[in-house]
Amino acid sequence: MQYRTVVGLLLLSIVSSNEALRLLVSFGAPSKSHSILGHGVVNRLLEAGHEVVHITSFPRKNPPPKLKEIDVSSIFEFFKTMSEQDDKFKLKNIIGQPNLGDSPFFAYFATYIHKQFLEHPNILKLLNDPNEKFDAVIVEWFFSEMLVGIPPLFECPLIWVSSTESHWQALRLMDEIPNPSYTADLFSSSRPPLDFWQRADGIWKIVKKLVLIDPIVTAYEMWMYSSVYPEIAAKRGVTLPPYSEAVYNASLMLVNSHPSIGGSIKLPQNVKNVGGYHIDTDVKPLPKDLQKLMDEAKHGVIYFSMGSNLKSQDMSDGMKNDLLKMFSTFKQQVIWKFEGDLQNVPANVHLVKWAPQPSILNHPNLKLFITHGGLLSTTESIHFGVPLVGIPVMADQHLNMKTIDSKGFGIAVTLSEDMTPELEEAINKVLLDPAYRTKAKELSRIYHDRPMVPGVELAYWVEHVVSTRGAPHLRSPALDLPFYKRFYFDLAACLAIVFVLLRKAVKYILKMRSKPQPKRKTN
Ligand SMILES: *[C@@H]1O[C@H](CO)[C@@H](O)[C@H](O)[C@H]1NC(C)=O
Repeated sequence: MQYRTVVGLLLLSIVSSNEALRLLVSFGAPSKSHSILGHGVVNRLLEAGHEVVHITSFPRKNPPPKLKEIDVSSIFEFFKTMSEQDDKFKLKNIIGQPNLGDSPFFAYFATYIHKQFLEHPNILKLLNDPNEKFDAVIVEWFFSEMLVGIPPLFECPLIWVSSTESHWQALRLMDEIPNPSYTADLFSSSRPPLDFWQRADGIWKIVKKLVLIDPIVTAYEMWMYSSVYPEIAAKRGVTLPPYSEAVYNASLMLVNSHPSIGGSIKLPQNVKNVGGYHIDTDVKPLPKDLQKLMDEAKHGVIYFSMGSNLKSQDMSDGMKNDLLKMFSTFKQQVIWKFEGDLQNVPANVHLVKWAPQPSILNHPNLKLFITHGGLLSTTESIHFGVPLVGIPVMADQHLNMKTIDSKGFGIAVTLSEDMTPELEEAINKVLLDPAYRTKAKELSRIYHDRPMVPGVELAYWVEHVVSTRGAPHLRSPALDLPFYKRFYFDLAACLAIVFVLLRKAVKYILKMRSKPQPKRKTN
């Protein structure tokens, strides 16, 4: 690790002696965890010496000099109020619901966010400002392509960032849809090798989205594209490509994953795994009280957090009491990220409203992390080599926990009102069986064994794209072939015609042969 950091810093100094770039980074999804990834991208680019304009719902208190932030937090506030008022988004009410990820509701949600985004006064001001110039536009891909009109306005390359593991909905923009018979779907909970029904389900999920949901979403996006961008393009004096070309014209996709965390997924040349880039290479020291607590924990520490979007506070009272009762029977100290206050908290349980997660995971006395299985948390646990017990709730959390379960460094527990006995069993198993910890350490070694630390690699590829004017040499040739050519439908049609003609010819010949031949006269 140590020497790699040094190498990373050396590389940084070489890069920053090159020309500094001006980059636009957009992470508009109204979600705290997505914004952590956005700030990660920005930090790594600033460290590489570039200038960044960051569109975010979570602006910083004191941005450094080379960073300008564009505040779109009103979009986040809108959704926060909506989800706080609507009981159905509370943790206690999500239990047992099907995964929303591939539902029409989710497609509507993603489209709606991007519409809000494109209509936001701060965004329109930025796009219309003739003095704004960028070398590349870096956009979080969040289940919509509505923002593909932005790079042409600045006549610069588009770079996507995918916040989840690679999957077909994102990869189809860079190449073709990966084969669902051996590629996991983000919203399922099955990992290859897939059985018959799982494979059938994989292809059904694709067909359902392409046939039933996409036509409506695409029509809407095209309408938004043609109603927002042409006017701005005209003002800036640039030509806007048609939507159908802009959608498939990204130069690069940076993916928040790595085979140590996720699957070994086949990737096109311009899709790069940089999972873990959001984690600072120098871990900050713990606050004094937590440091003391963890240092003095004779039997070690269990850390429990349901992440930043789901709130432990929104569990039912029964669940909270069961969990407290269970924790009180452990020898370990328990740090629980809990947003409110609780009565009758046992002496070994410590509630914290905010948790410096990387610093906690980095402490040698930490024995176990109980998580919701979000990709940030699972990545951080691999980074620090900590075994897990996961209670997945939604989105990719089910798939993440399935992966961890099958890799053998954690156990998934089904979220339910009376999950405590199952949870207790899983916790004891991970604490007592050293295999989980050994596996976590082994995968952590694989995760760190890369030619460059992920944050440095991220900046490297951004610079590569800019210096090669969009990296056309990395572009997949599959994007330039229509569907029927890629699947040889034209060849199949030719063969069918030849077959029909041959059949006709054979039939004709046979008919000729069977006709009574006129008798030959012999002299
Ligand atoms: C595609 O991107 C490249 C690189 O940024 C750019 O030069 C080209 O004009 C773009 N083409 C279209 C059709 O947008």
